[in-house]
Amino acid sequence: MPNARIAGMGMYVPDNVVTNDDMTKLVDTTDEWIRERSGIHERRFINEECGASDLALEATKIALEKANMSADEIDFIIFATLSPDYNFPGSGVLLQDKLGLGKIGALDVRNQCSGFIYGLSVANAYIRAGIYKNILLVGAEVHSTGVDFSEEGRHIAVLFGDGAGAAIISATDEERGVLSTHLHANGAKSMELCLINPGSRKIPRYYDGIWDDGTLYPQMNGREVFKHAVTLFPKVIKEALETNGFTTEDINLLVPHQANMRITEAVAQRLKLRPDQYFSNIHKYGNTTAASIPIALYEAIEEGRVKDGDLVILAAFGSGFTWASAAIRW
Ligand code: COA
Repeated sequence: MPNARIAGMGMYVPDNVVTNDDMTKLVDTTDEWIRERSGIHERRFINEECGASDLALEATKIALEKANMSADEIDFIIFATLSPDYNFPGSGVLLQDKLGLGKIGALDVRNQCSGFIYGLSVANAYIRAGIYKNILLVGAEVHSTGVDFSEEGRHIAVLFGDGAGAAIISATDEERGVLSTHLHANGAKSMELCLINPGSRKIPRYYDGIWDDGTLYPQMNGREVFKHAVTLFPKVIKEALETNGFTTEDINLLVPHQANMRITEAVAQRLKLRPDQYFSNIHKYGNTTAASIPIALYEAIEEGRVKDGDLVILAAFGSGFTWASAAIRW
């Protein structure tokens, strides 16, 4: 049975840097409030019309180059996003068309901040089963056009940024690659972090008042999210370690979903990790949801923090609630 390894990664963020001071012109906030509560200094916002698939295309080009591969070697696409270009069809088929990839399959994953790891688990299963050899897995988000810059939405608007990350997952006979994935969800908490409309439940879908009740914007119970994140991140990381007979000492690099620096630090403290054992770049990009893990992993590789043979742990928590981890022998 082949193993599934990450053969190359890429990332793309829009050029438009929006600092916390820039945010104060859009939202009633301060640099101090944002930094203290999230560790974010700046994020990127698109400043011309483009969708998640456009950002994903740019990240994919770099991932292909790093994998030393041409686009026509990709035999399946998995696209994780909560901010697709359109309600339907999914962004996966749009990316397939932009890459000129003929008739290969394209699957969209709707698991928000855990989307990249959910997607990785699917890619791993397909590759181990011998169905595909080279899968393109992307996480991409355009949040800036969908957040609420009024007082009701400011605790959310300041946290999120736009960007994309891509990975080429390839079959290998070597003893390396994805060792395990663990996926979890708790739908009872679905309303704690959600975007309700336009949804299919309402009759009519575009009812009178839809513009006034806040449901066209994301809603978040920040404290509830925080409380669950700091407990479930360590739990799912331990699950990845224990399954493979490792301890926290064995982790070379933890790349957590970049939700909030306070969450990452609380998780590191609970697991007693040294600063060199975990990666953070939230100060530069904010929370880019499904894109945050591949963007962080790409930068970690570029900074020389991931070497052949290293044990890399990916972990995520977010809307759903969903949470997940992956253990990778690099
Ligand atoms: N700028 C300035 N003040 C703001 C603000 C902003 N952007 N957003 C909210 N506030 C104000 C509130 O109105 C409130 O004012 P009040 O005390 O006068 O009523 C005050 O700040 C505290 O608001 P609160 O929502 O209680 O803040 P908090 O300490 O819980 O921090 C979060 C808010 C969102 C930063 C925090 O709950 C958090 O990090 N949660 C996790 C979020 C997350 O990671 N989500 C993604 C998961 S994938």
